[in-house]
Amino acid sequence: MKGIVLAGGLGSRLFPLTKITNKHLLPIYDKPMIYYPIQTLVDAGIEEILVVTGGRNAGDFLRLLANGKEFGLKHLNYAYQEGEGGIADALALAEHFAEGDRICVILGDNLVEHSIRPAVDAFRQQPAGARILLKEVPDAERFGVAEISGDRILGIEEKPSRPKSNFAVTGYYLYDESVWEKVKTLKPSSRGELEITDVNNAYIREGTMAFSYLDGWWTDAGTFESLLRAANLVADSQKPAAAPVTADSHS
Ligand code: G1P
Repeated sequence: MKGIVLAGGLGSRLFPLTKITNKHLLPIYDKPMIYYPIQTLVDAGIEEILVVTGGRNAGDFLRLLANGKEFGLKHLNYAYQEGEGGIADALALAEHFAEGDRICVILGDNLVEHSIRPAVDAFRQQPAGARILLKEVPDAERFGVAEISGDRILGIEEKPSRPKSNFAVTGYYLYDESVWEKVKTLKPSSRGELEITDVNNAYIREGTMAFSYLDGWWTDAGTFESLLRAANLVADSQKPAAAPVTADSHS
């Protein structure tokens, strides 16, 4: 399986922080945002990785990440997205890299507490299709929202004003090689972008979409609130566990 980190876009919800740099280069506590999705892939056992970026600061990714030595990698691949075509448009640039392999796609502004390896391993056992990772959230209207019935997923709505569940579709997507044909049939949405939700709904219509629930905390970092939350979650998870209070602690 190959890994793809999508790190393009204008980051307009973080303006003016993103006026002079790419969203994915902003700090989350002690590391640039892009470090987290790359580490998530490496922790899931995926070492052939493509970073898709764009905009005026693409060269900074190369200077920051180089060949991925910091992650124990020998090599990193890069692609450049021209314009603002959306997540699925950025994904289309990865077809040549995938070379017919299955892929694990991560949105560059998603952070997760635990490894996604259980879902990746479950997808390896799947004969075909796709797998998404769901997380129960209090503000589902900010995300793609899954309608679920038992162990079946019926559909996904992108940022619905009245969500049909509290389960957000997180930015971790596992696809088989049929994803490229699906991407080619997409039409731009009302916001003028090729939506990843439309790719997922194509798998759902075909009856080949599976899902896993994500364990531990999860957040995006594309708004001021979620950028701050991400930093706090990372900082808290790095704190050593509180020492047990013993009888002589206060003496
Ligand atoms: C994107 C997807 C959405 C998903 C979210 C996860 O939204 O379109 O379905 O729930 O990422 O972070 P965006 O943040 O690009 O608006």
